[in-house]
Amino acid sequence: MQISASILAADFANLAADVKAVLAAGADTVHFDVMDGHYVPDLTVGPLVCKALRRSGVTAPIDVHLMVAHPEDFIEPFAAAGADIITFHPETVSDVEATLQQIKGRDMQAGLVFNPDRDVQVDPACWPLLDILMLMSVVPGKGGQSFITATLDKIATTRSMLLQHSSTACLAVDGGVKVGNIQQIASAGADYFVVGSGLFAADDYVQRVQELRQCLLG
Ligand code: DX5
Ligand code: ZN
Repeated sequence: MQISASILAADFANLAADVKAVLAAGADTVHFDVMDGHYVPDLTVGPLVCKALRRSGVTAPIDVHLMVAHPEDFIEPFAAAGADIITFHPETVSDVEATLQQIKGRDMQAGLVFNPDRDVQVDPACWPLLDILMLMSVVPGKGGQSFITATLDKIATTRSMLLQHSSTACLAVDGGVKVGNIQQIASAGADYFVVGSGLFAADDYVQRVQELRQCLLG
């Protein structure tokens, strides 16, 4: 069970300090949301900022969520910037398998992200390449949205698919994950939880991470 802190909800004017604070409070990984103004309307940050986090002393794994039109262009720059995991949306590339291979060829973990309106479809050749399968539980593009309840059934069916394909990939959920729903999300079969506003909006990060973990323990 891993909790990944989504930087989208962090204090960008004090990003390194804020990220270090949630990690010190017990978050496992950093979820780095990249938006390009094309695939989604907004703009966020790129490899330069990832590198700056590494230089500032952040050592936790960084999972880069590419919400961009040409994810293949950003694999090399993010590898050089210290990313550990790269996920992308399959509809943004012409060759999903080649893009997964490209990520793994740079010694990073690779994953696919499926939007709420998309079925989880994975080409047989891609299953062995998947380290993480991420389900969006909000429409990608901004933080602080409400969890789409229909995702719970999708988590359960996706968990069955992973078992069917003997996949050891993490099953991640991204969007609207909070203290109030994380237990249900875990029960449905998820084991990797991206939490943005549900974490950074707390006054006390230590207490909030403890609350989230408590819910995971049931
Ligand atoms: C949405 C992003 C999510 C988002 C999660 O486009 O991919 O990672 O920041 O934030 P919360 O937890 O606030 O929904
Ligand atoms: Zn994300």
